[in-house]
Amino acid sequence: MTPTHTEQTVKQVGVVGSGIMGSGIAQVCVQAGYRVVIHDIDTAGLKQSYAKIIANLEKWCHKHDQAEQMDVFTNNLIAGAALTDLQDTDIVIEAVTERLEVKQSLFCALENVVRENAILASNTSGLSVTEIASACTRPQRVVGTHFFNPAPVMPLVEVIQGEKTDDDTINRVVTFIERLNKKPIKVKDVSGFVVNRIITPMLNEAMHTLEAGIASREDIDEAIKLSMRHPMGPLALSDYIGLDTLLYFMESAYQETGKESLKPSHLLKKMVAEGHLGVKTGKGFYEYYK
Ligand code: 3HC
Repeated sequence: MTPTHTEQTVKQVGVVGSGIMGSGIAQVCVQAGYRVVIHDIDTAGLKQSYAKIIANLEKWCHKHDQAEQMDVFTNNLIAGAALTDLQDTDIVIEAVTERLEVKQSLFCALENVVRENAILASNTSGLSVTEIASACTRPQRVVGTHFFNPAPVMPLVEVIQGEKTDDDTINRVVTFIERLNKKPIKVKDVSGFVVNRIITPMLNEAMHTLEAGIASREDIDEAIKLSMRHPMGPLALSDYIGLDTLLYFMESAYQETGKESLKPSHLLKKMVAEGHLGVKTGKGFYEYYK
């Protein structure tokens, strides 16, 4: 008997993009027992990411006194230099550049590589899943899975249903996310989903507060850490997320919604124009030394 879609479980996972998010997501999937193929067109970046994931998994095994797990993890993590290495995967999660046309052309290429019922998931933090899927021949299999940085630590994943994503895809993804020991929440395909929709105005307001000279960067961050029990203050968090990522999101969300709270501060625009993008460039609201 041919199994129905809902009976089909995920066995093998593909991750495209070996940056911070892709590497973190791949690590989470390996730790949950999946076989994972991680792919990137940047082969040097892929090599670095593979080494980083292995080092993190070693640290995990050591901390949890499970040295014997390391062989299993190593066998289950594959760095695939070609997109065709993803052909046997049941779900592919992309974490590539946050540009619509890049994600659309990747998913079109993937549709020619993976099986017909494989799920194509985007880790987009703000683009419309419906628009990404509009370039695909199987939009019912396209979904958003929005992880948070650092993915191995943060328990939440937003699961975004595009206009044409079918319920079977959503159900399979929710089950998969639960098997990663993460908490999935189902979210409509709206600008910023739930989390970025709520936190971005706060980060923006922290920048306006700094720009207006109301308090120092340290005091603004301490104020929110000590009053709200946030692990990071809003300026440090903005550096951690990446100021270019934030600006890109705010510009498109402001254009879409017209909400003043999403209109990027002059300070943010100036810093991005000067190439100060936060932790990744060594300078944002704070300085970072490797
Ligand atoms: N990868 C894997 N593990 C990591 C990690 C990383 N990049 N960074 C930290 N960790 C682990 C550490 O190994 C450590 O694990 P252990 O307890 O098992 O040893 C644990 O996290 C705590 O790390 P540290 O002791 O080094 O540091 P902190 O206690 O200061 O925690 C932090 C660091 C987890 C980053 C914490 O500051 C935090 O939670 N910050 C807030 C992060 C946040 O808000 N993320 C969401 C950003 S929004 C987003 O991603 C959406 C996007 O669309 C913009």
